[in-house]
Amino acid sequence: MAAKIRDVRHGTGVQGQVSQSRWLRRTGAARLEFGADYNPEQWPREVWDDDARAMRTAGVTIVTLGVFSWALLEPAEGEYDFGWLDDAMDLMHVNGIAVDLATATASPPPWLTTKHPEILPVTADGVTLWPGGRQQWRPTSAVFRTHALRLTRAMAERYGGHPALVAWHVSNELGCHNIYDYSDDAAAAFRLWLRERYATLDALNAAWATAFWSQHLSAWEQVLPPRTAASFPNPTQQLDFKRFSSDALKDHLRAERAVLREVTPDVPVTTNFMVMGETKGMNYADWAAEVDFVSNDHYVQPGPQGRDELSFSANLTGGLAGGRPWFLMEHSTSAVNWQPVNVAKRPGELARDSMTHVAYGADAVCYFQWRQSAAGAEKYHSGMIPHAGEDSTLFRAVADLGKRLGDLAPLAGTPRTPARAAILFDWESWWAAEADSHPTDRLRYRQEALDWYTAFLDLGVRADVLPVAAPLDGYDLVVAPILHVVPASLASRLTAFVQAGGHLVATYFSGVVDENDHVWLGGYPGPLRDLLGIRIEEFAPLLDDERVTLDNGSTGTLWTDRIDVSTEDVEVLARYTTGDQAGRPAVTWNPTAGGAAGYVSTRLGPQGLATVLGEFLSRAGIESELPPDQRGKVELAIRGDFHFLINRTDEPIDLGGYLLAADGVVVVRE
Ligand code: GLA
Ligand code: GLA
Repeated sequence: MAAKIRDVRHGTGVQGQVSQSRWLRRTGAARLEFGADYNPEQWPREVWDDDARAMRTAGVTIVTLGVFSWALLEPAEGEYDFGWLDDAMDLMHVNGIAVDLATATASPPPWLTTKHPEILPVTADGVTLWPGGRQQWRPTSAVFRTHALRLTRAMAERYGGHPALVAWHVSNELGCHNIYDYSDDAAAAFRLWLRERYATLDALNAAWATAFWSQHLSAWEQVLPPRTAASFPNPTQQLDFKRFSSDALKDHLRAERAVLREVTPDVPVTTNFMVMGETKGMNYADWAAEVDFVSNDHYVQPGPQGRDELSFSANLTGGLAGGRPWFLMEHSTSAVNWQPVNVAKRPGELARDSMTHVAYGADAVCYFQWRQSAAGAEKYHSGMIPHAGEDSTLFRAVADLGKRLGDLAPLAGTPRTPARAAILFDWESWWAAEADSHPTDRLRYRQEALDWYTAFLDLGVRADVLPVAAPLDGYDLVVAPILHVVPASLASRLTAFVQAGGHLVATYFSGVVDENDHVWLGGYPGPLRDLLGIRIEEFAPLLDDERVTLDNGSTGTLWTDRIDVSTEDVEVLARYTTGDQAGRPAVTWNPTAGGAAGYVSTRLGPQGLATVLGEFLSRAGIESELPPDQRGKVELAIRGDFHFLINRTDEPIDLGGYLLAADGVVVVRE
């Protein structure tokens, strides 16, 4: 990379034309937003002026207000107390700070749950989730919906014309705690949802394969959510309940949005997704079209792949946003309070983590929360102002980042530059592949996808993480880890991709079932058999302490398949040398008219995957865009003219005259 390197930490800023993101239309400024959830109601009024002053010092441009304010905004049914929020909104405005205003419906107030305990969610075991925490509401409760929409309307009418308002923030992290509710309300709504999907009871019986275990349904009233049962509940009932539960909260989002659009048609609407770790209940690929701009919350899970997971989540969020910029609504300046051990970030990690999100398309960098709480369940969760106050390393790092982001204003609105390789991500396969009563309960869908991502990073090759329905034109190599649910239409799309010259790689347990979780017969992987040129008669999962060796030197765990290749054209790229499959293919490659399709039948982990991926990449004609000595150490992300170089190591890296600090990120404008 011959371009000049501009160290944005000390840079003077760069000039350029940019398109504006949707939420910026109201601010009229092209900039990267910087801010946090702001909860002034937790502090005496005199602290607020200090907050506003310190926000200016830190370069804060936007705050989210009102997320958990219902009980103070509506202290009794239909009685509103907006005075304090008026004051906070005005204070932000006079200080030039925009407001992303929550509808405040995330957590119902005690008067509501006392009067209507029937809005409380119920677990699969029949346990009621009581007030005392937050988000204690049934997504399908008509009573809750009525009260939430009334508050939404009151908020929209009160603040729709406020000059500080730039976006609506529906509820908060929908489904964080209440995604699965098994109450009678849920049962009734589930029946309606199923009637919509299947129309007749015969169709439902067929989809759920109720001939099995005496489950034939003779009336709709007999349909239940998959409550704790004596043995494994019906798998299709479970899969449909996951779909239904995601839809039920999506419906809540749409209901609040409808009120907001009616009262304030010009104000964009978002809600904060949780594309992170093992949070899997909400099918965000399906939700993304419901918001005016995609927002995400992300918290680092410390561990060997912590950085890669952050990058993966940011990358997938960009995929959900269709490559357009998105809004990082929450992450942390340092420790959180909800992991088993809450690790403080090392110096440099704060900026590195934030800038990684920016590298993958975030046009806003916001934290939970502005001022660390002195009391309550989140008092040990870091904020932009820590308990120690402004005279702290943390606050100085925050202010430093605010400055850097200010310098990067010309980046605002720039979409990501697509890579030539992609990893497909599919919520339904995630749900279905990890269901009970399977060949192994050790399989982890997202971990396999993340391992592929790490392998790409280790080879210094960019890969876009895409929802499975995304268009694949322009990609030369597409990896589909554990693409378990393959309806006929998806098989056709993937076949067409290969016929048009694409290279597809699938892994173990892919292409096994259709959309009803019924096995494709005739040998696995059903509808991908011809494309891959293989036929599997039996799965052969491995016990925890079992390892198998491949003749390319790699080690496999978790899974193996008994593979037969279907034609002479299929190349065996690696064979098992130990275990029950010794001598059989482990990794295959089927060149077809146009492109090719590969298969990896065991869990190789990042290192083993890097070996086979190197081979797949060279066959697809894809090379690293980094110089050889930087591959694996430096992570590259590209947004138009802006190239982000992220240090993946704990050592400084010489970029040819410029030293990229450990945990450093540099932005180069080509
Ligand atoms: C979520 C919530 C916030 C806060 C943070 C803590 O992201 O939306 O209100 O609880 O977690 O990490
Ligand atoms: C028991 C049951 C069978 C079947 C098998 C499965 O034997 O009687 O119906 O479920 O377990 O191993």
